[in-house]
Amino acid sequence: MSPLYRNLALAVVALGAVAWGAARLGLFDPPPPPLVPSPQALARGRAVFTARCRHCHDDIPLERRVLGWSATRAYDAIGRLPELSPVMPAFHGTVEERRDLALFLAALGAPADDVP
Ligand code: HEC
Repeated sequence: MSPLYRNLALAVVALGAVAWGAARLGLFDPPPPPLVPSPQALARGRAVFTARCRHCHDDIPLERRVLGWSATRAYDAIGRLPELSPVMPAFHGTVEERRDLALFLAALGAPADDVP
């Protein structure tokens, strides 16, 4: 291989590694939408949870696992469920469903005396 092609190949590999690292760090992820709780959003989030998570999480209660989580933290976690536990499938819902589910998880993890 000529030195030019070798250097080009090295540059492509290096760029690929940088892009992979940036993707791992979530630098390409769009920012979360505003995470503002409301009774409607929580009800929708509960419905998403029932449809997509409850068949496992009836047996693996989440209250203690998400204790003290902000909605932002929950939103982030929903984006990488297989990383948190390899048995969990990735979440393929819409951004709105992910937002409402994050609000629901944050409410689930709120200490009891925070609930109005
Ligand atoms: C196939 C079964 C399964 C499904 C479906 C599933 N989970 Fe899980 N989940 C697990 C298991 C197993 C764990 C790990 C429990 C442990 O740490 O002991 C877990 C852990 C978690 C945790 C805690 C992670 C941490 O950092 O401790 C969160 C949050 C969570 N799941 C959210 C969800 C949400 C939201 C959904 C629905 C979109 C979902 N899970 C669907 C099996 C599942």
